[in-house]
Amino acid sequence: MTSTPLPDLNRRDPTPAFDMVVFGGTGDLAMRKLMPALMHRDIDGRLHSASRIIGIGRSAIGNEAFAKRVEESCRNAIGAAFTEQSWASFAPRLHYLALNASQNDYGVLRDFLDDSASKPSGASVGSRDRISDASAVRVFYLATDPDLFGPTSQHLGQADLVTPDTRVVLEKPIGHDLASSRAVNDAVGAVFREDQIFRIDHYLGKEAVQNLLALRFANALFEPVWNASGIDHIQITVAETLGVERRGEYYDRAGALRDMVQNHLLQLLCLTTMEPPSKFEPDAIRDEKRKVLRALKPFTIGDFTTHTVRGQYRAGMADGVQVPGYNDEIGRSDNPSTTETFVAIKGEITNWRWGGVPFYLRTGKRLAGRGSEIVIQFREVPHDIFPASNRPLSPNRLIIRVQPDERITLSLMTKVPGTTGMRLRPAPLNLSFAEEFHIRSPDAYERLLLDVVRGDATLFMRRDEIEAAWSWVEPILDAWAASNEPPRSYPAGSWGPSAAIALIERDGRTWSEDSD
Ligand code: BG6
Repeated sequence: MTSTPLPDLNRRDPTPAFDMVVFGGTGDLAMRKLMPALMHRDIDGRLHSASRIIGIGRSAIGNEAFAKRVEESCRNAIGAAFTEQSWASFAPRLHYLALNASQNDYGVLRDFLDDSASKPSGASVGSRDRISDASAVRVFYLATDPDLFGPTSQHLGQADLVTPDTRVVLEKPIGHDLASSRAVNDAVGAVFREDQIFRIDHYLGKEAVQNLLALRFANALFEPVWNASGIDHIQITVAETLGVERRGEYYDRAGALRDMVQNHLLQLLCLTTMEPPSKFEPDAIRDEKRKVLRALKPFTIGDFTTHTVRGQYRAGMADGVQVPGYNDEIGRSDNPSTTETFVAIKGEITNWRWGGVPFYLRTGKRLAGRGSEIVIQFREVPHDIFPASNRPLSPNRLIIRVQPDERITLSLMTKVPGTTGMRLRPAPLNLSFAEEFHIRSPDAYERLLLDVVRGDATLFMRRDEIEAAWSWVEPILDAWAASNEPPRSYPAGSWGPSAAIALIERDGRTWSEDSD
């Protein structure tokens, strides 16, 4: 059966006009993700003609140089859709202001935003002036060190730049532990109301992650077995082949637990295991996620060695290329760092739905393959009626492939055709989104940035979720810090330390073959 091509479902009315002020405007995130995402949306016809993007950085590089950098990164990220014409439409939206976010010199920003309201902007870099719109939604995107979130918010408030409709976006991680996260949230909360604060976790903007909500709550099929009676265990893997690249300084302070588990992996776990919310609305969903986080079973002292594994990559072959080990990559060969680049954890959600069902989380850099997936392993059949089958029955597995190649696969036991007797083997029921829908799957930031402008917080984290996540993660960080054992070494290009395999095999289970 061939599927019918669908119209471009991404084409909707343009969002309201916005002024998006990006602190950290020349940084890695802005260049690699935010600018290409905004340009892509412009190409899709989703940006109001008066929308502007104002990059903020410390260096006095000027509009032209800023636009040049943005052009280069968009050209790399966007591929064939980047044309002279699409750039000519996007470039006039770009502006750059030099400002030290930690000092109180926000007058330059205020002057820019006030002066340009309702009149042609003199600072645009493109071939035509873009008319600004006094009613534009104002968004401050803080793509900086979390230590600057509080002071930046305070300065924005003091400079009278925060109106009741202004929004602020905070990049993860928010703080480096529970106390610092509270301090950041308090400081930002002193200037912005909770409904003005958008804490971004870009995994929530991934198409396959939103599809998980559709799978669970728009189909009646799974709910009756989506619990301890039907499910044996859950696995969540986020595997990367890249190392730490240019982010060594940040990464060495964070490590995989803070960088990936505290946010991305726990958010995926929440969406997989939460109770059905009563509505598809921000607080209804966030209430349910918070309940999951609060029900995570705290670790006891003995658990840290049996339920957690931390690793760090050494030199090896990744993606067919010889790559250095972590310490060489970040320039610490003389004084080796103990920061983990790999984490595996076995945990449990202590509530009626999930009591006794373990979940296994695994993430790492420089692994053997790139892939993120959620695996739901169902229970075995209660009684095997096929004694003559030539292999034991494999329990059903539902795999939600988040990236790359987004798909949902359900593995079923089937009879091998033509065989005498009942020769059985597992075979997949496969739903590939690319094959089914024939439309480009937008990057997570494309969706999330416009959600901020529209004021839709459904796919953003609330303060209490972040704090509940830190409460569960922090004892692991403390136990690792108190331990004399360094992280376990694994060669780049492998699936992590052997202890991670032992962690799941001790329970008579294996990591999903899909990522092996
Ligand atoms: C970021 C982490 O949040 O997510 C990075 O800080 C990581 O270390 C990245 O590489 C992974 O995102 P994605 O979308 O490439 O899976």
